[in-house]
Amino acid sequence: MGARPLRVGIVGGGFMGRVHTAAARSAGAAVVAIASSSAEGAGRAARALGVPTAHATADDLLHDPDVDVVHVCSPNATHAPYALAALRAGKHVVCEKPLTTGSAEADELVAVAEAAGLVTAVPFVYRFHPMVREARARVASGRVGRVLSVRGSYLQDWLLGVDDVDWRVDAAAGGPSRAFADIGSHLVDLVEFVVGDRIARVSALTSTVHPARAGTAVTTEDEAAVVFATGSGALGTLFVSQVAPGRKNRLLLDVSGSVESVEFSQEEPDALWVGRRRGSELLARDAAQLSPDAARLSVVPAGHPLGYLDAFAAFVADAHAAVRGDRPEGLPTFADGRRAVRVTEAVLESARTGAWVGTP
Ligand SMILES: NC(=O)c1ccc[n+]([C@@H]2O[C@H](COP(=O)([O-])OP(=O)(O)OC[C@H]3O[C@@H](n4cnc5c(N)ncnc54)[C@H](O)[C@@H]3O)[C@@H](O)[C@H]2O)c1
Repeated sequence: MGARPLRVGIVGGGFMGRVHTAAARSAGAAVVAIASSSAEGAGRAARALGVPTAHATADDLLHDPDVDVVHVCSPNATHAPYALAALRAGKHVVCEKPLTTGSAEADELVAVAEAAGLVTAVPFVYRFHPMVREARARVASGRVGRVLSVRGSYLQDWLLGVDDVDWRVDAAAGGPSRAFADIGSHLVDLVEFVVGDRIARVSALTSTVHPARAGTAVTTEDEAAVVFATGSGALGTLFVSQVAPGRKNRLLLDVSGSVESVEFSQEEPDALWVGRRRGSELLARDAAQLSPDAARLSVVPAGHPLGYLDAFAAFVADAHAAVRGDRPEGLPTFADGRRAVRVTEAVLESARTGAWVGTP
């Protein structure tokens, strides 16, 4: 590929299509093509984003010889077929979360990508906040001590009303899990990434607050509450809701070790609370004081805030660096996407049966 810009094709012209386009350009790539649910939608998105080629179908884009990397930014149920077709066409693939709506498809994607030697990535974007890397480094170095407990929550309110609808509400487009697959998947990834240990078993309850929305029956959950144990025996809870008034993207991760606690809040991502029996502090992002991996992602001087779009740019920059042969620290791959799919399936099974379910 030499020094020429990577050529990116985007599938899906909505919120994430725009975010991926901006992040790819910031990483130095050329966004050469876009496809969406229709030729008209692709044309509109191409004009709005200044993308030279609008493909009439996603399939045309997936087989476009001028595309090196496909970014799949369409509704959840399309991820598996599009990512598989892209891999089979020899493309590197960045695919949105949830990677798939079932673990058999995720297994196939991981196997096909490995056999073909192609780079894969899933935007578990919260990994790319420097203060998340700092929390992870403190756990890995032993500063936090033995991890005793973990609490993760992600609260939103955009589906609070009985008439609030979106493709995510429909299991055919979003998959059998809604709130947990949509936002709980980020928590699963963040817990395992920061703590360096796996969620080993779960016991879950789910609730569908509105059994019908805008007159149509709903089978997907609005809330999920999960108790879990990690492989090394730490206890934890996860709580997700898309019906919590006033909460927008209230993702919190709180880890208690035998020496320190660390708490990250994605709505205030430039600080990490470090708790001790004596001398708790709010650590402001300052590259000079951070671990190397956190400092690496701290791309503007302290005092200039970093946020969601910066984290996204860092994610895509690392994914594209991997395509060029680098091995960036902490890039979430399809194997990580599959982890979140497996835990999501276990959460649904536990909620259905009332039993603890293992998540190997
Ligand atoms: N990583 C993150 O932080 C993050 C944040 C938001 C959404 N997402 C994920 O990104 C994906 C897209 O979400 P969004 O918020 O952009 O949704 P959106 O509704 O804003 O956009 C979806 C786009 O896909 C198009 N589309 C619909 N059906 C299609 C099909 N069959 N083929 C091709 N395109 C099709 C739609 O026309 C629309 O342009 C979802 O899987 C979601 O879970 C990830």
